[in-house]
This record gives sequence, structure tokens and C-alpha cells, in this order.
Amino acid sequence: MKLIDVLEGQITETPPIWMMRQAGRHLPEYLEIRATCKNFIDFCFTPDKAAEVTLQPIRRYDMDAAILFADILLIPIGLGRKVEFIKGTGPVLEPIDVEGVSKLTVNGAAERVNSVWETVERVRAGLPKDKTLIGFAGGPWTVATYMIEGKGSPTKEIAKRFAYENPEAMEDLLSALVESTADYLIGQAKAGANVLKIFESWAEGLAPDLFDRLVINPTRDIITKIRSAGIDVPIMGFPRGSGLNAIRYAHDTGITAIAAGTQMPMDDFRATLPENMPVQGNLDPLALRIGGTTLYRSVESVLRDAAGGPHIFNLGHGVTPDVKIENVQAVVDHIRGKEPNYV
Ligand code: CP3
Repeated sequence: MKLIDVLEGQITETPPIWMMRQAGRHLPEYLEIRATCKNFIDFCFTPDKAAEVTLQPIRRYDMDAAILFADILLIPIGLGRKVEFIKGTGPVLEPIDVEGVSKLTVNGAAERVNSVWETVERVRAGLPKDKTLIGFAGGPWTVATYMIEGKGSPTKEIAKRFAYENPEAMEDLLSALVESTADYLIGQAKAGANVLKIFESWAEGLAPDLFDRLVINPTRDIITKIRSAGIDVPIMGFPRGSGLNAIRYAHDTGITAIAAGTQMPMDDFRATLPENMPVQGNLDPLALRIGGTTLYRSVESVLRDAAGGPHIFNLGHGVTPDVKIENVQAVVDHIRGKEPNYV
């Protein structure tokens, strides 16, 4: 598995490639299966359907890795919280307060969402040996922001206030997330995931002391727990938009590799990381939407900036529903040295 080789520190001439949100609404074959299940959460908890959509981007684009089809907001369900996905709005949760934190059902939380482990088993069984299967979970802070605010929020002000004003409840919430997320990821690795990824998508805008409390410490605790369970698969962190805080994250959490968001200059970033740490990223998802020479130049610029160390090609954030299939295909061809057809 070339992607695993890179995670073990090998520098390859052609970087392995996959894309965040590669399974999803830009694919007609996804929409077709998605239409058979009204509710997105039921869809995530239906292993044969979730496994099938996980494999679709491998069939269509021959990506080097499949990412488990699930969501970062399944763990709050395991913890006993109500979660809904509303079409056109996104996730909606019942906002948690201090009392709610004391009532979380941490014991058995990962087991309550264990159909995801079955999805992992099914995907691994259907995936060619040379392809990597990536399991994942949300970072504790990112999942906490949804639990506290009840939805995605541009500023995270309510969640940050909660952290400043209720430090003990915040600690309890994060430790519930650490315990359940570690168990959930351990289960994914045991079911056949070759790599684990922690999506800390809302890591931007945190003061350094908050970043240490809310992101670095809980992430380190998750990784310590996974390692003490005897799981030795590579673990990738994605502290998206965290600026220079990402340097401490890379050094202090125990991650094997780091994914870079769109704004990160890959060459300067690499210079701050632990020696030979693999880096993943970071094509601008907007360039992928635009296509043509914009996309060609953006791919070249990522390849140039990320050269000089182990690199996995990816986006700086996810594929959006409006992305054209031809554009994804052109990027894959370009990376593999085939004549790309940029339109
Ligand atoms: O291909 C893949 O990346 C695998 C599956 C995957 C999904 N969500 C499926 C999904 C993964 C890895 C995620 C992670 C996720 N979910 C993140 C972290 C990554 C990131 O994008 O920053 C976050 C923040 C979420 C929370 C979430 N889930 C939101 C905000 C939304 C609604 C917005 C949207 O894109 O619609 C979702 C729903 C969701 N998760 C969809 C998919 C394919 C769309 C729902 C549908 O198909 O109806």
C-alpha cells in the first residue's frame, strides 16, 4: 500500500492521492443510493449501503485510499444526545448544558454506534489489498462545538464561552468524548481500518492556551488510549485552520502524520514539523470547482510546495457537491503523470 509507505516516512515520486468527502453528493452513483434512505443517520448506520458508497470513489477514480462513510456526529448519538441532519440546513443537535454533560452515557457509547464497525469490515473485505482504508472520528473540540452550539457556527463563540466560563463541565465533556472516540477508533482499527484520522475541522481561532486545553490535550489522550490498547496503525491529525498552533499539535499529540488546510504553505509548514513527518494536502477546493487552468496551476503549486518529504495529495478541505467529475479525474491523472484533460 503506497499510502501506508508514505505514512511510514517514504518519499515517493508520485504522491498517493485521495480526497476528503470523495464519497458524496458530487457522484451520481452516491445520490442514487442516498435516495433509498430518507434519513442520513439511518444511512450511516446501514452497513451494506455505507460500505457501497465508501467503495464508489475507488471504482470511479481508482483513489489510493477509501475513507469510511460515516459522520463525526455519530459519537454524540452514542453518548445519548439527539442529532438530526436537516436537508439544506445541516446537522441540528439539542444544545448541551452543564447538567446535560453530567448525564452523558459514556459507558457503551462506542458500542451503541457499532454498526460502523461492520461497515469497516465490509469495506475492507471488498477493497483491493493495495488500497488503504481510512477510519475516522471527529476531534473532541470539533464535536463539542456541535454539541454545545447545536449546529455549525462561524465563530464558535458559544462553545468558547462555555470553555472559559464552565471549565469543569468542559473538561468532563471532553473526557467523555476522549473515552468514546478512542473506543470507537480502536473498534475501527480492529475491524480492518489501516489508518485512523482525527478531523479537528473547527480548530481555527482558538487562543493558544485554549488550543492546548481543548485540542492538544484531548487528542493526546485519545492517541495514548489507542496505543495502550495495542493498536499501532498510523494516526493522522487534521487541525484545520489552526495556524502556528498546528506546530505544537504535530509535536505534542503523538500523531503520525498531519493534514494541512488550504491556507497552509506546505514548504514552510514542513520545516516546523517533527523530522520527516508525512504531510497531507492541500489543494484549494475552490480550484477543484473552477477547473481548467486554475486547477492545473493549483495542483502544480501544491506539488511544488509539498515536495521534499513524504506527501499524500489531498484537498485542503472537502469536495463540494457542485464539483465536476471531470475535474476530479483530471487531478488524479495529473498526479499520476497521465495526460490530464482539464476543462
Ligand atoms: O467521503 C468522505 O469524506 C466520508 C464521509 C464523511 C462524511 N462526513 C459524510 C457526510 C466524513 C469524513 C465526514 C466528516 C465530517 N462531518 C466533518 C469533518 C470534515 C469536514 O468537512 O470538515 C464535519 C464537520 C461533519 C459534519 C457534517 N456532516 C456537516 C456539517 C454536514 C452537513 C453539511 C453537508 O455537507 O451537507 C454533514 C452531512 C454529511 N456528512 C454529508 C455527507 C456525505 C451530506 C449529507 C447527505 O448526503 O445528505
